[in-house]
Amino acid sequence: MKKANDKTAAESVTIKTEVVCPNDTNPMGILQGGRLVEWMDIAAAVCAQTHADRICVTASINEVAFKAAAYSGDIITIRATITRAFNSSMEILVEAHARKVLKAKKYLISKAYFTFVALDKKGKVTKVISMKPVTASEKEEYEGALIRRETAAARKLSTKPVLA
Ligand SMILES: CC(C)(COP(=O)(O)OP(=O)(O)OC[C@H]1O[C@@H](n2cnc3c(N)ncnc32)[C@H](O)[C@@H]1OP(=O)(O)O)[C@@H](O)C(=O)NCCC(=O)NCCS
Repeated sequence: MKKANDKTAAESVTIKTEVVCPNDTNPMGILQGGRLVEWMDIAAAVCAQTHADRICVTASINEVAFKAAAYSGDIITIRATITRAFNSSMEILVEAHARKVLKAKKYLISKAYFTFVALDKKGKVTKVISMKPVTASEKEEYEGALIRRETAAARKLSTKPVLA
């Protein structure tokens, strides 16, 4: 049952639209992966901050997949939605679709799970409001978020510098 202070994913869904310009592409006119991830990160941050009603920082970007290329002139639509809130962290699912200008057909170009952490006014990690899944796919992602969190913890990336 939804508690009075739970929020739903629908309350913080964030859509961002971009047009691929020449300076977003490689010499073949293909959208650079780093630029796309930057746009996805911004959409995810807005989503996390809307849910948490706090400033949030990117803690990790997981399972980034680039499934298809987009080209100069294409229109990119990025959708970010919260899958689960833990204590101070939230998992945000981001999907990016591309379409040709004047064409309606969209295709998936990238999908990733971001983790954001909420900060209080002093910049300290702070608790966030819980999130209640409503639809079948939200419930599936909600359960998956816990598995992804546990899997990430199990293969925890060392933060010790190697190349310095
Ligand atoms: C993210 C950050 C605030 C975490 O601080 P920390 O002192 O390690 O925090 P804690 O150990 O108390 O963990 C706080 C939460 O962050 C999560 N977390 C920390 N590091 C994480 C990582 N690499 N991946 C995913 N989650 C992470 C923890 O699981 C915990 O979640 P929970 O409260 O929901 O259980 C800190 O590492 C940081 O400021 N990183 C830089 C962020 C940044 O500059 N991002 C780019 C610009 S926005």
